[in-house]
Amino acid sequence: STGQQLNMTSDQIRQTFLEFFESKEHSIVPSASLLPDAPNLLFTNAGMNQFVPYFLGEREAPYPRATDTQKCIRAGGKHNDLEDVGLDTYHHTFFEMLGNWSFGDYFKSEAIEWAWELITEIWEFPKERLYATVYKPEPGDPADFDQEAYDIWKAVFEKAGLDPEVHIVYGNKKDNFWMMGDTGPCGPCSELHMDLTPNGDTQGSLVNADSPYCIEIWNLVFIQFNATPDGDFVPLKSKHVDTGMGFERVAGIVATSKAFTDFLSPPSNYNSDLFTSIFDKLEALSGHTYQRTLPEDLENISELEMKDVAFRVLADHIRCLSCSIADGILPGNEGRNYVLRRILRRAVMYGRRLGLETGFFAHLAPIVIEKLGHVFPDLVNQQDIIHKV
Ligand code: GLY
Repeated sequence: STGQQLNMTSDQIRQTFLEFFESKEHSIVPSASLLPDAPNLLFTNAGMNQFVPYFLGEREAPYPRATDTQKCIRAGGKHNDLEDVGLDTYHHTFFEMLGNWSFGDYFKSEAIEWAWELITEIWEFPKERLYATVYKPEPGDPADFDQEAYDIWKAVFEKAGLDPEVHIVYGNKKDNFWMMGDTGPCGPCSELHMDLTPNGDTQGSLVNADSPYCIEIWNLVFIQFNATPDGDFVPLKSKHVDTGMGFERVAGIVATSKAFTDFLSPPSNYNSDLFTSIFDKLEALSGHTYQRTLPEDLENISELEMKDVAFRVLADHIRCLSCSIADGILPGNEGRNYVLRRILRRAVMYGRRLGLETGFFAHLAPIVIEKLGHVFPDLVNQQDIIHKV
């Protein structure tokens, strides 16, 4: 490939993901609201939330396979990334999770082989930069070593001419056993990570090491258990697949590497068109330019670094606020509403660091609506209320 035709926009990435799974007989379904049905969640925090009753066998799935892009917020609760936002380049309060699901239909081999096919054949990610993690419990962790996933990945890597001993990395419950919350459907998972270092030669040493140079892009969860309040993991009647791809991460990798032709620039989700249009507006409003710096020392952030943190925080938070308000969750005094109020206050505080004036935040909302309104129509339907709030 010349790389040229694969220099996908975020819209093209989302679209090709959904079409790929449609070609594998998945029904394309809409994102659920950010306001979850489950009483124990503050916000919808994963693509699988809306499918919990199917996993538990409480309701019959209307289709055996589904795919979508799900609006998620991970601020407050078990999965909480708020404090990292802005300080790094790959965590967000709001993000889209691309996913494919099997409800008692296909299982590990299809999930793994299709993930590999989409990533390496359709999108042409460089195979040698990819690593797969496999669940290996430590004493006290639930379930057994995931031999099945290991064997499937081993065959995949061998076929690609890559050493499975290098490209398969083990993880315990913390990294490779996915739970939505403390209870509910769960199971061992296998994640795809990508080495983003200039030479791509880290041999798996940066996997799950909190490095921006090696990040998880896709989590394949094999839902097999229901975690009960008394700490048991009860096997489910059927086995299911629940995958979650970090859409902004994939868009960031494609944009930063110019479709895998250049790994010299530091990786960042914020290089994708999902964020650059917000940065353009912020630059116009503030007169400052985003310089792509990252804090070198979190205890001692320079003025320039802090401006770039502010750009990232604002771009993240306006997406989060706009999409929550569109789904009817307003900033307020309690629970999830209070989390939103804190995010709004945080945004305004960082706006001051760029010298932005009262009311500036509302000017960012139209950019989000323009960028995502065709995917999440409530952004368009609710634009007046978003602006007012
Ligand atoms: N449910 C899969 C994930 O959120 O990673």
